[in-house]
Amino acid sequence: MELRSVEELMELLHACRGARGAPGRDVEPVDLHDHALQTAALLRRSHPADKELQIAGLVHDIGRLLRPGDDAGHADHAADAVRPLLGERVSRLVRLHVAARRYLAAVGPGHGGSAESASALTRQGGPMSPAEAAAFERDPLADDAVTLRQADEAAKVAGLDAGVLEDWRTVLELVAARHARLGAVD
Ligand SMILES: [Fe+2]
Repeated sequence: MELRSVEELMELLHACRGARGAPGRDVEPVDLHDHALQTAALLRRSHPADKELQIAGLVHDIGRLLRPGDDAGHADHAADAVRPLLGERVSRLVRLHVAARRYLAAVGPGHGGSAESASALTRQGGPMSPAEAAAFERDPLADDAVTLRQADEAAKVAGLDAGVLEDWRTVLELVAARHARLGAVD
């Protein structure tokens, strides 16, 4: 499925209220709605100028709603859905957030995340091999994808107020308008 308007995307994000999305996720401390807001807020704090990175954080897990139960494919579903609306960079950052988890699991200790995350990692292919990690590092978006993944992992704090979805409508419209303009030039 492809999202055609910011309104459609906002509705999907609102529908993340109360959703956990994957088996075992009911043990997670926050729903997908709060998780999206917390991820975006963390990225806004660390990278205030990078609206696309913030928006990628906001939408990175909508694949869990688009195709419930497909843990391994959730990044691809979300990336495909947002690409026509938000452009290639946001789409690629969303697509890479699972690869970034597998990369971080490969490059050092202390990156394993929660127990739930560890079992999700196994479902998603386990840590990268050295060759896969080397290939990942050559991607120009690798650093940003790792930044997104670290915010993702930190954005699971029960009761933390990270604002409301409406705060992001203007930013979504800005990124969508920029993409529409650039798209028109092609
Ligand atoms: Fe996430």
